[in-house]
Amino acid sequence: MTIQGHVLAGTEVAIPALGVGTWAWGDRSTWGMGTYDTALTEGTIREAWDASIDAGATFFDTAEVYGEGESERIIGTLLAADPQRAARVQLATKFMPLPWKLGVQGALLDALKASLDRLGVASVDLYQLHGPISLRGHAALAEALAAAHQQGLVKAVGVSNYSAKETRSIHAQLQKRGLALATNQIEFSLLRRGPETGGLLATCAELGVVPLAYSPLGQGRLTGKYSVGNPPPGKRNFSAHPMEVVDAVVAELRRIGEANGGKAPSQVALNWIMAKGAVPIPGAKNRAQAEENAGALGWEIGADDLAALDRAALPGLRSLANRFWQHG
Ligand SMILES: NC(=O)c1ccc[n+]([C@@H]2O[C@H](COP(=O)([O-])OP(=O)(O)OC[C@H]3O[C@@H](n4cnc5c(N)ncnc54)[C@H](OP(=O)(O)O)[C@@H]3O)[C@@H](O)[C@H]2O)c1
Repeated sequence: MTIQGHVLAGTEVAIPALGVGTWAWGDRSTWGMGTYDTALTEGTIREAWDASIDAGATFFDTAEVYGEGESERIIGTLLAADPQRAARVQLATKFMPLPWKLGVQGALLDALKASLDRLGVASVDLYQLHGPISLRGHAALAEALAAAHQQGLVKAVGVSNYSAKETRSIHAQLQKRGLALATNQIEFSLLRRGPETGGLLATCAELGVVPLAYSPLGQGRLTGKYSVGNPPPGKRNFSAHPMEVVDAVVAELRRIGEANGGKAPSQVALNWIMAKGAVPIPGAKNRAQAEENAGALGWEIGADDLAALDRAALPGLRSLANRFWQHG
């Protein structure tokens, strides 16, 4: 049995059960491109892109703010260089609705057009509000998304970091305008199970909203390469649990991976998310990471192992990064 992909509500866009996050592509401050991680180059990114698409992870997530537009620019270069692979890709980007952007419709359309320009495409498959930080109400935000949709610039619309209550509210405002809410991108992983236990995933399922799971590897912590003696470099503010706590979760991932024919901890961690009905979008900096992550596709964890992982999972942290967004 393999876990199926999803169709974005209101569209015919099919996305696979596993995507790829591209925050690290072009980013200097968190992910060290050109700074602490000198191995991360446009060459290694191209290999990650090719390997992901070839393995069926064809859904890519970016944002206007990643590397101040560099992530979108790099993706634009990759799309233009290889039209055959480009034709298989589903593309998602995001608008940052900063509180002072009070003329939200104009700001969103301007930002979207700049994103399309960097990506070198006429439209994106999914356009998301990056977080619930706008001072404007959900009616104005829905109106802005509807304008982008009417102009043919986006196929589907989504949000990110929205609580269950906020998800219901924007869903209703979009519905009034004949639009479906396709996705809610949230931090969800074995280091942050809160969205499942707190009911957000159930709300998404009820509304036909696909949850996209960001930082699904706890920003690299669940891959097994970091430990108490070798903590992750850089800022990595999401799921910044003490490594002693992370090590216990990774030990369980290793045990279950070995019992499932030698799966890597990352593959088990991503498969657990897929089993919960969410689409993980792990970041990949090179071919090896992309291939390993794509190895989460094509198999399923058994019920006993799922239950063991549920017991090992952590509810999540109220970190600075989390407090910036309103999770629920
Ligand atoms: N909407 C939001 O507010 C929001 C917030 C955060 C992220 N996101 C999205 O979610 C995506 C993923 O989240 P994330 O990048 O924060 O965290 P993540 O996917 O949990 O971790 C990604 C990092 O882990 C390491 N890694 C990945 N696969 C690996 C493997 N197989 N083996 C060893 N190391 C591996 C790499 O960094 P190293 O090699 O340097 O360890 C990689 O950059 C982002 O790219 C972005 O698209 C969205």
